[in-house]
Amino acid sequence: RTPFHGVVAIDGPSGSGKSTVARRLAVALRAGYLDTGAMYRAATWAVLSAGIELSDPDAVADCVRSAVLTITTDPTAVSVRVGDVAVDAAIRGPEVTGAVSAVAGVPAVRAHLIAEQRRLIDAARDTGGIVVEGRDIGAVVAPDAELKVFLTADPVERARRRSAETAADLNATAADLRRRDTADSRVTKPLEAAEDATVVDTTYESIDQVVERLLGLLAQHAAAG
Ligand code: DC
Repeated sequence: RTPFHGVVAIDGPSGSGKSTVARRLAVALRAGYLDTGAMYRAATWAVLSAGIELSDPDAVADCVRSAVLTITTDPTAVSVRVGDVAVDAAIRGPEVTGAVSAVAGVPAVRAHLIAEQRRLIDAARDTGGIVVEGRDIGAVVAPDAELKVFLTADPVERARRRSAETAADLNATAADLRRRDTADSRVTKPLEAAEDATVVDTTYESIDQVVERLLGLLAQHAAAG
């Protein structure tokens, strides 16, 4: 494959296949990978472990700004730290998952993390490019991305995938996804694609098929550009 130096923005709601697809695509391109959701989750872990009230946005923002978040951009060795604590497992737990929409909804938190995301993206342009996944990536974080993709999937299929991952009950997972879609919609547009994004419905496609489709879109883009 030809070397890649660009930015691929992957947006979509929870359970759309975003994380797996983004990581596999990064490996295929020999590019970096940035999970922006993990940054919001790590920020939330910092807020919860400092005992800060989620109802106090100034205190939440101060805590996030003073926390030292470190995230790797190697798709084969993803790791997130707050200070010198590895939080990879803790940020997937129910406490963080339940609080992350509130923390991600504080504008000063978003401004801080988006600045950090742009710094990581700029650094990657000089090396092997980067695949960035999350919410508002194509519209806000990296509007000049070479390829913008919006992954969707039927809500029932999203819940099925998520409960297979977490071994949690399907109905409880479906209810949790609905709650998070609603909470996230107050902050970003998790169910809406950026104007110039390509919408890819993953309901009936395997991860491999979706990754192949995105590689095809990039090849088309390279041929056109
Ligand atoms: O993708 P995820 O489930 O790990 O994201 C965790 C939360 O962070 C999700 O509820 C929405 C929020 N988020 C965001 O607001 N902006 C992003 N770029 C990524 C995630």
